[in-house]
Amino acid sequence: MQTIAVNLPQHSYQIAIFPHGLQQLGSQLRQLPVGNKVLLVSNPTVFNYYGEIARQSLENAGFSLAVHLIPDGEQHKTLDRLAEVYDTALLHRIERSSTLIALGGGVIGDMTGFAAATWLRGVNFVQVPTTLLAMVDASIGGKTGVNHPQGKNLIGAFYQPCLVLIDPLTLKTLPPREFRAGMAEVIKYGVICDRPLFDALEQAPSLDSLEKLSPQLLETILQHSCQAKATIVSQDEKEAGLRAILNYGHTLGHAIESLTHYSQFLHGEAVAMGMVAAGEIARRLDLWTAADAQRQTQLIHKAQLPSQIPSHLKTNAILTALKTDKKVKDGTVRFVLPTANGQAIVEDGVTPEVLRTVLAEIGAISD
Ligand code: NAD
Ligand code: GLY
Repeated sequence: MQTIAVNLPQHSYQIAIFPHGLQQLGSQLRQLPVGNKVLLVSNPTVFNYYGEIARQSLENAGFSLAVHLIPDGEQHKTLDRLAEVYDTALLHRIERSSTLIALGGGVIGDMTGFAAATWLRGVNFVQVPTTLLAMVDASIGGKTGVNHPQGKNLIGAFYQPCLVLIDPLTLKTLPPREFRAGMAEVIKYGVICDRPLFDALEQAPSLDSLEKLSPQLLETILQHSCQAKATIVSQDEKEAGLRAILNYGHTLGHAIESLTHYSQFLHGEAVAMGMVAAGEIARRLDLWTAADAQRQTQLIHKAQLPSQIPSHLKTNAILTALKTDKKVKDGTVRFVLPTANGQAIVEDGVTPEVLRTVLAEIGAISD
């Protein structure tokens, strides 16, 4: 088992990564100062695969268990569906000392975390992520919440889990497209803060499916990505500064997701296009070389992620959508840009001319 610490002033916790970890969920939870009642939150897809293993492990460790399933899909990340989690918590008398466990991808993790943050003003919370994206990103760092009809993740809270338990074997059933989308966030860490991870990804023959990854590379990917996120969150829990670099590729990525109504691309696919754009901007601002940008694009292609934005997206529409990004400050769009020393900065000096040129270069139609 590998463990990584997320060190925070008030809520430090461990990320435990180990194959067959799901069978140890109950015994791992027993080591924490929590009560006997557990509410396991999942969706039918994930629960069908892993629900019984989790249930048995928890019951064998003496926990009294209730289960709540949320229908599968981002469209269910709503306040209405969250209210149903509270109904189950009430029905099963979930107490202050009880634990909510999220078994699933980022949707389940974000919703369960927000339920845990708000039920009785806060109960224990454990993340058991089952997508690559949730393992390396969403389950770590305490961002929880649901969508508002007008925008993603507008309602939420910072609320840290007391344990993140990652069982890499659960990735075996993950649809390949979801796996590739998670790989975009892995490449992100390689670019913004972890050169050895970047090098390991470059040396891999393939990044586009779990089957083609060696067990050692999967271990490296999980360990380095979780460590990168833990280090950044430990330094800046509430995103006062440094944590913003985790949004590398997300400025344009969010604009693409919103303009395509969250239906054409998975989040990681949009982030991949956003990283290519950010790399090109960095090159034009002399923060990065053409060779750096080319190496990043090669990794994105190796993971079979898109590097060009769809030709029906128009430059002006993208520029308008960029203005709704959460990082906009006093009306200026801010980009996370990679730098030559393998790090990243937040830059607000990207001119509309540079943006237009880069957007044209990566496929947007000028109008
Ligand atoms: P997801 O939770 O929708 O899961 C993707 C799909 O994979 C779903 O259909 C799910 O049922 C299925 N699935 C999950 N695990 C599986 C497994 N092991 N085998 C088979 N199928 C499996 O999507 P996601 O990409 O994990 O997460 C996206 C969500 O995460 C978004 O809502 C996003 O806002 C959020 N997010 C949060 C953070 C954060 O810091 N809190 C960071 C990034 C993303
Ligand atoms: N996924 C970005 C963050 O956790 O800050």
